[in-house]
Amino acid sequence: MKYCIVTYGCQMNLHESEKIAGVLRGEGYTEAGEIGEADIIVFNTCCIRENAENHAFGNIGALKKLKREKKGLLIAVGGCMAQERGKAELLRKKFPFVDIVFGTHNLNELASLIERKRKERKAVVSLKEERGETEDGIVPVRTSYPNAWVNITYGCNNFCSYCIVPYVRGRERSRGAEQILEEVRGLVKEGYGEITLLGQNVNSYRDGDVAFPELLERVARIEGNFRVRFMTSHPKDFSAELVRVMKENPKICRHLHLPVQSGNNRILALMNRRYTREKYLEEIALLKREIPDCEVTTDLIVAFPTETEEEFCDTLSLVKEADLSSAFTFIYSPREGTKAAQMEGRIPEDIAKDRIMRLVEAVNANTREKSAKYAGKTVEILCEDYDGKKGLYLGRDQYGRMGYFASGTDMIGKFVKLVIKEANGISLYGEIAE
Ligand code: 5AD
Ligand code: SF4
Repeated sequence: MKYCIVTYGCQMNLHESEKIAGVLRGEGYTEAGEIGEADIIVFNTCCIRENAENHAFGNIGALKKLKREKKGLLIAVGGCMAQERGKAELLRKKFPFVDIVFGTHNLNELASLIERKRKERKAVVSLKEERGETEDGIVPVRTSYPNAWVNITYGCNNFCSYCIVPYVRGRERSRGAEQILEEVRGLVKEGYGEITLLGQNVNSYRDGDVAFPELLERVARIEGNFRVRFMTSHPKDFSAELVRVMKENPKICRHLHLPVQSGNNRILALMNRRYTREKYLEEIALLKREIPDCEVTTDLIVAFPTETEEEFCDTLSLVKEADLSSAFTFIYSPREGTKAAQMEGRIPEDIAKDRIMRLVEAVNANTREKSAKYAGKTVEILCEDYDGKKGLYLGRDQYGRMGYFASGTDMIGKFVKLVIKEANGISLYGEIAE
């Protein structure tokens, strides 16, 4: 029996799919080479923006035919969209051939839901309210060697006015520090070269007296040849202590993903972000003063309700002023049940599209400018894959830049020093240093 998992959304979801795979392995399934071979297909969905949902809707719909042709095929839909208010019923109505619908707090139950479905004819729908679950007992099937994701927190308490995450992921809860350290020690022993600590808001991690900077430091002091990343950070919880820990522990990548969302104070207040442009700039200044080579990346939203051209320009100018090396850029997408969805002053689509295009151009210009400085330099990358089309190995340096190189032997999982010959947009091309 074979499984296939289709994942939408962020790294949290990708890692969660590794846990879903762990549950399915426990049930005797092995991974299918392609979707047509699978006996169970699981969709792990995302609902952060409307287009993520539309994507999933389209692909689930496309399975109707396969379901009719293949007797005994099970289709399960889980994740954020399934947990969203009213969406489970909508999924059931639109796709009556779906066998199992499960939310974000039911992973521990997935095996028993499959059992139940095998016995019952009708669909099994199981949605729970969050009650402090942390998915601790599940052993994931890791798919991203040499990087390993490790959850440190689940859920979010921030309620940014545009964001649906707190509603579908529940209140923030932290895993025990000892448990996290044990997991990382095991991964390093297995040969993972990069550990990424994951949480919606890692800076507010707390287990008793252990806050995030201490946890990070303890992870970085584990013996072995590896590096550590973490995401996502919130500017309101940024601290000098975090900067100290990053500075003093060379295993921590000199890269901070610090979503700012907007460069304008009125919009930041409407977004309920609880910091100002000035505070954000001060944080970056402190970081770069202490760790001059540290790179900062961010998330940006354009066309939040009532955003004026002038206010959008504050976001544009922040890219340069904060020296952001790259950014994920989004057009605001109203999410039912959030505060912002009730706000007046929606920005017309043509204006929103124009703004995002100008923003992407500004971000790319900055990225290119920074990449160009790499030519002739030596960088260390962790080789993660082989690109068959290019005939080159690839990997990232600690700042998150992708480097390509040729090699006659398999380099995946190895740290490699490259002399950069060419910087092309966001990618670097180099040769192995002698
Ligand atoms: N519309 C557009 N972008 C959003 N994000 C979160 N919610 C929305 C929304 N409703 C973006 C934020 C966040 C990233 C993960 O997704 O920038 O940091
Ligand atoms: Fe959403 Fe804000 Fe929480 Fe991030 S911090 S998940 S944007 S509510």
